Amino acid sequence: MSDESVVRVGLLGFGTVGSAFAEVLAAHGDLAAHGDAAAHGHALVRVTHVFNRGVDRKRTHARAKFLAKDVVWTQRVEDVLESPDVDVVVELMGGLDPAEGWIRAALNAGKHVVTANKLLIAYRGAELFALAAEKGVQLRYGAAVAGGVPVIPGIAQGLSGDVITRISGIVNGTCNFILSSMEDGADYSEVLAKAQAAGYAETDPSADVDGFDARAKLCVLARLALHAEIDPDEVPTQTIAMISAVDFAYAKELGCTVRQVSRAELIEGVVSASVGPMLVPRTSPIAYSHGTQNMVVTSGKFGGDVVFSGHGAGGHPTAVAVMSDVRAIAEGSVQVRLPAQKMKVVGDVVAPHYLRFVVADRPGIVAAIAGALAKVGANIDSILQHRGFAGDRLPFVVTTEPSMSAWLKEAVEEMAGFDFMLEPPVCLQILVVDDRDTD
Ligand code: NAP
Ligand code: HSE
Repeated sequence: MSDESVVRVGLLGFGTVGSAFAEVLAAHGDLAAHGDAAAHGHALVRVTHVFNRGVDRKRTHARAKFLAKDVVWTQRVEDVLESPDVDVVVELMGGLDPAEGWIRAALNAGKHVVTANKLLIAYRGAELFALAAEKGVQLRYGAAVAGGVPVIPGIAQGLSGDVITRISGIVNGTCNFILSSMEDGADYSEVLAKAQAAGYAETDPSADVDGFDARAKLCVLARLALHAEIDPDEVPTQTIAMISAVDFAYAKELGCTVRQVSRAELIEGVVSASVGPMLVPRTSPIAYSHGTQNMVVTSGKFGGDVVFSGHGAGGHPTAVAVMSDVRAIAEGSVQVRLPAQKMKVVGDVVAPHYLRFVVADRPGIVAAIAGALAKVGANIDSILQHRGFAGDRLPFVVTTEPSMSAWLKEAVEEMAGFDFMLEPPVCLQILVVDDRDTD
């Protein structure tokens, strides 16, 4: 860095997070002006370049006022990557391509990189970290999981002394916003549109609702916490799109609610992992998460459970994490690097399950469903049928005792073919709350 007291940032992407970063940085500039940061040995951070396609639209963005008048606005990425006036490239565009190539170019040019791009860190993190190490620069990604919640630095710095064997929780703010609003009576499509308007959802919101965003974040956490390098494509994911109001009504009767839960556990050298909607008992802290709140619970062999919680999506919370990474680089903080090795993923778990059917009522339906479950060795725990639904479209629920998820998948495939079944059955795991004791 040319002047020790100023760190120069080149911003790639001036969207929800990029523009919020400009605002957060401006607030730090005000603080620095009052506190005379440079005189106290703290580096000042300044954005020198902003790159975005169609950049003229961005110059007039409401948050452009937070940047200095002499900032270079450009739609030529080389103006940032090749500039001697950029020390840190902050990538806030998202996606694998072209972000990967541009981050590689920045690292190769000896620039530090800060990114919120979980997809890139999940799929290409190992190679990019190796490149950063080879070039003697930092690649920080604190905003990639749980937005403004410091779960990544928390695990890397605060928990690297433990042997973490399990991570679980909520890592997608959009799904949590949708499901917790549905719990209060909102309609799925309306609330998804709200999440998009508020800037929580990914460019393609199916990344949120179908679980791909959460799965990438889970893999980033597994690398750090479980030292397991896992392929995101191997992690089974289930969409939340088929969850309806009736599921919340039946879940309530079972003492539960519905949340998208991501979990990964190290069991004898393999990682058991999955992402999808689950029935969460109201006694679990996960059930209390509302809106864009994220909650990650790490379970350590020696330290027990640690809970990280806060706003997991949205421009400002995410920009805080980006700013913290830039500050860490500016202050010369050493980055913690933890080893990780490639591991296989298994999706199967033994757990109680919730099966919801919508049927055209007639005699023999419960017997047919019980037969399919008996065939795979799954034992029924309860049958719930609320009164008041019309017989030509009747929703009801069966819960099972702990059963292998693969067995239930097989049974559900058979049930989907029954002539009275009006919709594919919904099969959700019921989360078991187990507080592991430590000595
Ligand atoms: P966004 O609002 O869509 O902003 C992305 C910006 O990058 C837009 O201005 C977009 O331009 C620009 N851009 C994208 N691809 C480009 C390309 N190939 N060339 C030039 N410009 C390009 O997205 P965001 O919500 O800020 O998310 C940014 C990153 O942060 C993503 O990795 C996301 O997963 C991550 N993240 C987001 C949140 C959140 O709550 N939003 C939270 C945590 C992490 P256009 O305006 O032309 O599209
Ligand atoms: N779309 C993501 C979410 C943004 O809803 O959690 C934060 O990574």
